[in-house]
Amino acid sequence: MHILLFGKNGQVGWELQRALLPLGRITAVDFDSTDYCGDFSNPEGVAETVRLLRPDVIVNAAAHTTVDKAESERDFAERLNATSVAALAKEAEALGVWLVHYSTDYVFNGSGEKPWVETDPTAPLNVYGETKLAGELAAALCSRHLIFRTSWVYAARGANFAKTMLRLAKERNEISVINDQFGAPTGAELLADCTAHAIRIAQDKPEVAGLYHLIAAGTTTWFDYAQRVFATADAAGVALAVTKVKAVPSSAFPTPAKRPLNSRLDTSKFQRTFGMRLPNWTIGVDRMLAEILGK
Ligand SMILES: NC(=O)c1ccc[n+]([C@@H]2O[C@H](COP(=O)([O-])OP(=O)(O)OC[C@H]3O[C@@H](n4cnc5c(N)ncnc54)[C@H](OP(=O)(O)O)[C@@H]3O)[C@@H](O)[C@H]2O)c1
Repeated sequence: MHILLFGKNGQVGWELQRALLPLGRITAVDFDSTDYCGDFSNPEGVAETVRLLRPDVIVNAAAHTTVDKAESERDFAERLNATSVAALAKEAEALGVWLVHYSTDYVFNGSGEKPWVETDPTAPLNVYGETKLAGELAAALCSRHLIFRTSWVYAARGANFAKTMLRLAKERNEISVINDQFGAPTGAELLADCTAHAIRIAQDKPEVAGLYHLIAAGTTTWFDYAQRVFATADAAGVALAVTKVKAVPSSAFPTPAKRPLNSRLDTSKFQRTFGMRLPNWTIGVDRMLAEILGK
């Protein structure tokens, strides 16, 4: 199997480079690759890459993910998150191959407390969510599509929420953390591993094509997540300056893009279809903390 991976250096892309390896040969590109165009601001370029390589599976981990910036550069975000995805889908359909794509809970408005199911009505609160929703429709132009809506993605590599909290906890006595957004931190490792399993299954079962919610199990808030980070660091002997952690509403941190309060996603369809059990978010976060704390 020849897999063409776009966005190879992002959180998920990096882990996909590892997780997809046992499936076959991988050609992995990023926006500045020189051999083949992986730049999503150039839809014709990425389409040409597919025509040249004629892969069996296309996995797209590239995206415009800077949520606040997207508010002031809608056209650019739309080009990356939707126009280029449509170009990929058109080429994938012409070749009769699979297109794997990622989307987000930001397609929903975050109301209520129930986990969203795939068929719930979408109503994005911000430009990023609107462009990602357009990207879902674009990816579905390829009949053999797997679209995974995920949320609160972290990776040990690069910056992440836990590392920011650890830095602040060493510098400050008091930290305020948002306590009215609910979701499940989901590791890029888990997403990549689940993607590899799903691709393997899809090879023999084309009827699994569709849209799936894919996040770790359980629910937390940024406040409770931060508390777990501090407790783990403390137990590992890290010297922390923080003595008070304040739970605050989202309104305490105004941002250009509004965030949904309810990022819970119901993953039953994914687990049932692919015969997998998604682990609790604490398992991945504890592993990531052990890695960054060196314990
Ligand atoms: N992160 C989350 O919390 C989250 C939540 C829900 C859904 N998702 C979705 O999950 C997928 C993977 O996200 P991620 O967390 O891995 O994001 P990420 O780390 O930001 O990765 C996105 C990748 O796209 C690249 N990129 C930026 N501009 C590009 C361009 N013009 N052409 C090609 N590539 C370009 C980025 O490069 P640079 O880093 O150099 O800019 C980066 O390598 C995306 O579809 C995202 O929308 C993410």
